[in-house]
Amino acid sequence: MTHPSDNRADVPSEGDSNRSSYRQAWQFRHIDRQTQAWLDRDARAYLRQSLSTPCLNLLDSCQGTTLTDRQGREILDFHGNSVHQVGYGHPRVIAAIKAQLDRLPFCPRRYTNIPAIALAEKLAEITPMPLGKVLLVPGGTSAVGMALKLARTATGRFKTISMWDSFHGASLDAISVGGEALFRSGIGPLLPGCVHVPPADPYRCVWNANGDCAACDLKCAATSNT
Ligand SMILES: Cc1ncc(COP(=O)(O)O)c(C=O)c1O
Repeated sequence: MTHPSDNRADVPSEGDSNRSSYRQAWQFRHIDRQTQAWLDRDARAYLRQSLSTPCLNLLDSCQGTTLTDRQGREILDFHGNSVHQVGYGHPRVIAAIKAQLDRLPFCPRRYTNIPAIALAEKLAEITPMPLGKVLLVPGGTSAVGMALKLARTATGRFKTISMWDSFHGASLDAISVGGEALFRSGIGPLLPGCVHVPPADPYRCVWNANGDCAACDLKCAATSNT
């Protein structure tokens, strides 16, 4: 099965599915046969995900800021998916997870429990804007989907406005408000009323105005598409 990124073999892409000759050259130099065999098994076993596979390398462990691959090399993780701010495998986090798994690994929502109540109260307390209620969801995509539903319910309206090239997740509702062509193309009708506008960014101006917003007459502010 072909994939949109397959057509861009020599164009370095934003995501991890970079299939440029640079990546192939790196893999040829640095990936040994055993690792390659695991990468091949991964590619056979998993459906390919936009921007995530085929995988670059095989990890063995991680600790703090460091990823260690199966060939023993250490990699400093500057990204951490924006959710590992305390580092990989922080001992206090591991201890808390283990203790909770031993005591109450799951709580059906017809019931509650003291750690869950304490967590919601703490989140409300430390969130900068006044936050009355907490809703825990499995991930960012679900958070976006639920926020869309809540906003529709609260306002009685359905239109959204978001940026070209923005990423809000990969589900149908999230790609509707998202602005990345890779996710939106060739997938049929998306949610109606999703308006997209260009980023107002003088530094990387879409119209190459080079920061001269007056001469450009703020085209970004006058432009939108669905
Ligand atoms: C801004 C933004 N919104 C939504 C998501 C989707 O989150 P998730 O992958 O947890 O569904 C991401 C993930 O990278 C994100 O960066």
